[in-house]
Amino acid sequence: MSDRIKRLIDRLETKHTLTKPEWIEVLDGFDDSDREYAAKKARAVSLGVFGSNIYIRGIVEFSNVCRNDCYYCGIRRSNKAAQRYRLTDDEILSCCDEGYGFGFRTFVLQSGEDYKEYPAERIAGIVKRIKAAHPDCAVTLSLGEMEYDDLKLMREAGADRYLLRHETAAKALYQKLHPDKMSFEHRMKCLKWLKELGYQTGAGMMIGAPYQTSEDLAEDMLFLRNLEPHMIGTGPFLPHKDTPFKDFPKGGYELTLLVLSLCRLMLPRVLLPATTALGTIREDGREQGVLAGANVIMPNLSPTAVRKKYMLYDGKIGTASAAADGLEDIKNRMRSIGYEVMISRGDFKL
Ligand code: 5AD
Repeated sequence: MSDRIKRLIDRLETKHTLTKPEWIEVLDGFDDSDREYAAKKARAVSLGVFGSNIYIRGIVEFSNVCRNDCYYCGIRRSNKAAQRYRLTDDEILSCCDEGYGFGFRTFVLQSGEDYKEYPAERIAGIVKRIKAAHPDCAVTLSLGEMEYDDLKLMREAGADRYLLRHETAAKALYQKLHPDKMSFEHRMKCLKWLKELGYQTGAGMMIGAPYQTSEDLAEDMLFLRNLEPHMIGTGPFLPHKDTPFKDFPKGGYELTLLVLSLCRLMLPRVLLPATTALGTIREDGREQGVLAGANVIMPNLSPTAVRKKYMLYDGKIGTASAAADGLEDIKNRMRSIGYEVMISRGDFKL
């Protein structure tokens, strides 16, 4: 039986696609030896495309105010226990300046959906200032769903990339994870716009989200195959104590590693982070993620004072350390498995 799954992994490696029933078969039926088989192949593909270099992105979490109310997320609007904060433009700039000194050449500006305070015009101004100060750097935005004109304005201001996880490609599941007000169609439309506008675009999903089935994950794989994003951000679901999903179990660690390998085999050049959630669920999760085919790590550049407030899930790592220490830790972890953190924008390779 296991042999059958290895043959499907071989097929994915050569044909870069599987049918929906085949995806389900792999996701439902894999064992440790299948997972290691996929990881070994995915790692070889990753080494072929990127060598043993790991790209780093510095994340600046500049506001945890959010108009949305996603049931899984610790900074959802209804979480009254969350202490809200917002950084000023100057504070955001200082985080980037500091990060530049450490060797970061990509800055990711991430926040809740806080457009009242940070409309596209304001973000565009911040992007211009970062670009003027550091013309050799890429700016990535991760601000949630926006309208076409806003996305266009920020792109014209110089933003290079945009991360917007689709969260799930199965509409019925989307509706179980989000309140009625949130629209699956609008999220999908945003991803289409981002690509049209020439952003290097990132999508992605949580692994083991409440109610998620293998069929749902198979839909994600088919969706990603079709979208061909430049980046895929995916990590395990982790409960947060002040959310409606507080009592659901964590997503599977092994399943997350398998999905990373499958993503690498399906889209060989995709930029694939070993996420903070993966490093939270397992002490050496990010190392194992790299060994399963990931090639990006996204350390935190936010001021230490606000880090604990950007808690999407319980136990999030890196909330105590200063940016420099966090990066030193990553460098050591990567060296311990034979990889080297690179000073580079780390663009998608055409
Ligand atoms: N567990 C894991 N990932 C989460 N995210 C939000 N809440 C959680 C959680 N409880 C992810 C979502 C979002 C990204 C910024 O963080 O996928 O897009």
